[in-house]
Amino acid sequence: MLPTYEAVSGRAFDVVAARIRASPQLVLGLATGSTPLGLYRRLAAGDLDWSRVTTFNLDEYAGLSPEHPQSYHHYMWLHLFRHVNITPARTHIPSATGAGTAFEARIAAAGGIDLQILGIGANGHIGFNEPGSSFGSRTRSVSLAARTIADNARFFDRVEDVPRSACTMGIGTIMESRVIMLMACGKVKAEAVSRALQGPVTTDVPASVLQRHPNVLVLLDEAAASLLSKHLLTS
Ligand code: F6R
Repeated sequence: MLPTYEAVSGRAFDVVAARIRASPQLVLGLATGSTPLGLYRRLAAGDLDWSRVTTFNLDEYAGLSPEHPQSYHHYMWLHLFRHVNITPARTHIPSATGAGTAFEARIAAAGGIDLQILGIGANGHIGFNEPGSSFGSRTRSVSLAARTIADNARFFDRVEDVPRSACTMGIGTIMESRVIMLMACGKVKAEAVSRALQGPVTTDVPASVLQRHPNVLVLLDEAAASLLSKHLLTS
């Protein structure tokens, strides 16, 4: 556990930077949303060599063009890709037009994901794998949960503008990553974090599957960790 959002972002930066320096050909899984913004701000300002790094994003909304200000294509360009020397052909964001199999093939061709960055939804989702998603699921089109639509309405003018569906890497896909770095900050995530890390492993809480992964690093601020038993916490 770390004291603040900035401390979480700083630690996440240290992890990603060390990995890219150690393996310039890193295959990096990326998340969007509010949580990784501090990490991306640090990466954007850094001097890492991204030229041989390959990236795979977790998800993308259906029905938004890549140029739409709320699309995850736009988010990645705005917050990271335009600031670093990444090779555009090495960046991959799923498209919601049913190309899940092709996306999976690209991950396999890249040799699998070395380090996957994850956030967590207040309902326990990872990527857009909502409660009830199978632990074996692969990259596919999904409907968003009402809670996710409500939570993500903050990025749109009106809740009616939030897409109802998306394409997401599956839970099975995510679990094949060699290392997973889960980031969560704020009181609003405390219950989901507690259910994911110290509750039963159940498809009702997709992130609880991470208890079965051999190499997960969890970065939490105090508020997100506030419902965890003390024995689970290190700094
Ligand atoms: C984003 C993603 C989602 C978010 C989650 C938390 O690519 O896959 O699972 O990580 O909804 O979002 P924030 O960080 O906005 O609270």
